[in-house]
Amino acid sequence: MSETVYLNGKFFPKSEAFISPEDRGFNFADGIYEVIKYYGGKPYRYADHLERLKRSLKEVQIEYRDTDQLESVFQELLDKNGIAAQEAGIYLQITRGSQTRIHRFPDTILPTVYATVFPFASKWDQLKNGVKVITTEDIRWLRCDIKSVSLLPNVLAAQKAHEQDAVEAIFIRNGVVTEGSHSSFMAVKNGVIYTHPNSNLILPGITRKVVFEICRDHNIQVIEEGIPASELANMDEMMIIGTGSEVTPVVQMNENPVGNGKCGPVTRFIQERFFQQTLL
Ligand code: PDD
Repeated sequence: MSETVYLNGKFFPKSEAFISPEDRGFNFADGIYEVIKYYGGKPYRYADHLERLKRSLKEVQIEYRDTDQLESVFQELLDKNGIAAQEAGIYLQITRGSQTRIHRFPDTILPTVYATVFPFASKWDQLKNGVKVITTEDIRWLRCDIKSVSLLPNVLAAQKAHEQDAVEAIFIRNGVVTEGSHSSFMAVKNGVIYTHPNSNLILPGITRKVVFEICRDHNIQVIEEGIPASELANMDEMMIIGTGSEVTPVVQMNENPVGNGKCGPVTRFIQERFFQQTLL
């Protein structure tokens, strides 16, 4: 069965969905995106994703007013693709639209709105046993709080990680850890969680917010402070967190084991609580 996608108000077989070569997403990476996971047929933290989407649109001044109709579009996509009952992901991309290439915003332009769904099973081996990450310099722009499709530094970092048999690259800016190329980052020392505060230097992750809620409910202290790279070797535990990563233990950073090289108790506790509440 051919895959069905959504483009500018209509559903198409993927092979028949066309975007102009003049699209500003293609020419300038002038667009934003969201990734949402569905557990048991239900979108996870939909309201948070929608709010972040609206914020991204506002920050880059893309005018798209039909955001409230998207949930039914996503549901229809899941149904049409026959994956409504599985763990599924939706990818939504909104660009400023297509027009002859000029840098400034064209006077009249309609956004390009594209959505697709895909099977999105949890990676149980990684969740159970943990993963390797590398560290790399954060060469991204100064608006990492916007979920922009301009992801070249993230792509280069993820490739560097892959070439070193790691699943994620953790960015370091001016000697301080920010986040991963496609996930949030947290570390644990003496039972306390440390993570970069929300600012222009990181994405306000939805899963990160969920972890904060779990910590609050279970009296785990969280300190929102950027971790100096020089302190990383002293951390007991580390985790990468996100819609796809969920709560994944980090057991190796570069060539060094994290803690005793196994998933630590704080990470495991948070991971278990996280999966309990994805089922709610
Ligand atoms: N990535 N930081 C970055 C740079 C990210 O790209 C992501 C998510 C996160 C975690 O955010 P959330 O918990 O809201 O998923 C943090 C998505 C999944 C992606 O690009 O595929």
